[in-house]
Amino acid sequence: MSPFKSDAFFDSLSSSAGDVSQSDTLPPLCYTSAEFYEFEKEALFNHEWLCVGRVDWLPNAGDYFTTTVIGEPLLIARNREGQIKAMSAVCQHRAMLVAEGHGNTKAFLCPYHHWAYDLNGELIGAPEMQRTENFQRKDFCLPTLQVELWQGFIFVNFDPAAAPLGPRLTKVDEVLTNYDLTNAQGPRPEPGPRYPWNWKVMMENNNDGYHANRLHHGPLHDFAPSALARFPKDLPEDTAGYYRTNGTLHPDASFNPTQRAVLPVFPQLSEEERGRFLFVNLPPTLSLVLTSDLVMYLILRADGPEAHFNDTGVLCAPGAIDSPAFPHLMEMINNSAAEIIAQDLHVDELVQQGLRSRYAVRGRYSWQEQAQSDFNKWVVPRYQQTWERIRPAELIPLQQLPAAAL
Ligand code: FES
Ligand SMILES: [Fe+2]
Repeated sequence: MSPFKSDAFFDSLSSSAGDVSQSDTLPPLCYTSAEFYEFEKEALFNHEWLCVGRVDWLPNAGDYFTTTVIGEPLLIARNREGQIKAMSAVCQHRAMLVAEGHGNTKAFLCPYHHWAYDLNGELIGAPEMQRTENFQRKDFCLPTLQVELWQGFIFVNFDPAAAPLGPRLTKVDEVLTNYDLTNAQGPRPEPGPRYPWNWKVMMENNNDGYHANRLHHGPLHDFAPSALARFPKDLPEDTAGYYRTNGTLHPDASFNPTQRAVLPVFPQLSEEERGRFLFVNLPPTLSLVLTSDLVMYLILRADGPEAHFNDTGVLCAPGAIDSPAFPHLMEMINNSAAEIIAQDLHVDELVQQGLRSRYAVRGRYSWQEQAQSDFNKWVVPRYQQTWERIRPAELIPLQQLPAAAL
């Protein structure tokens, strides 16, 4: 039996989800085990809302883009009625993918044998199938997923019975109000690289204020010292996301060589908001870093126990991207960000190596890592409840074991 498939293992996870002063890190196998990843698909990815992109990637009817999450090729499209639809990209004939990349189309024509699907995924054409017995087009539509829009982001859910996302994000919405992310704008990012480490390593790194002016010590980050990390005390237990802030040593601080906002500041921000960074996480896929003039978002797409894709994009105040100076300012910002990101990626890769070691332990947290125990409070109950649900099939009842084994 797998080392984690026991009541003792799942009971032990509770020690990661208490107050940060008492919590242990998650067991290393949660980041490395192929069997745990299969369990995690059921515990998280099959039922949670997963971010796949931005609404403004699909401005017009017929616009579409493709993506993959947990190895599932997906197709996101805007239909003739203006609704955003999510469906499997897998042709229901012989499993070719019916679309690649992004574009605009009237219908999806599978390149292999030309079965055609409309923008809702319904099969509208299948050549030379009239001699095929008991074949009805309506039985071979592309499977669809639930869609919900939040703050200009598109979320999908494999679970047709999943409860809506928005009502469980009220506290997060409060801190995001003045950024008005629904109307924020940014260029569509290239689909991200595939990184050889677990998605949680990435989310925890972006979630971590403890390393800020340690790993990143220097003029590009020192104005946001870890000592100014702050964590909310009033997140509801059922929250679908969480946040932290980090004070800055001067207002409108931003990650570029001037250490200050160079793009237009989000116009509704308060003085208090202009004196801090905000970090928001909606596990298991979306991570946001918000500064006065720029929001960076990471869409994490798990792709195995030790790999994930990472689409990284930016959002700015409305109109900012139309300025002729925008590409030049972004080049300066990107050069600074690249230095910081390279430090993070190096750490992420080596953390994954460390987690595979026999000597990896369940560590302890500093107060500056409360966002990690907040993440654990989100993930641990989901692990434990899923184990409760599947354990009868996983555990062999004692009376069925041969006497010699007892
Ligand atoms: S696999 Fe798509 S039409 Fe045959
Ligand atoms: Fe970092």
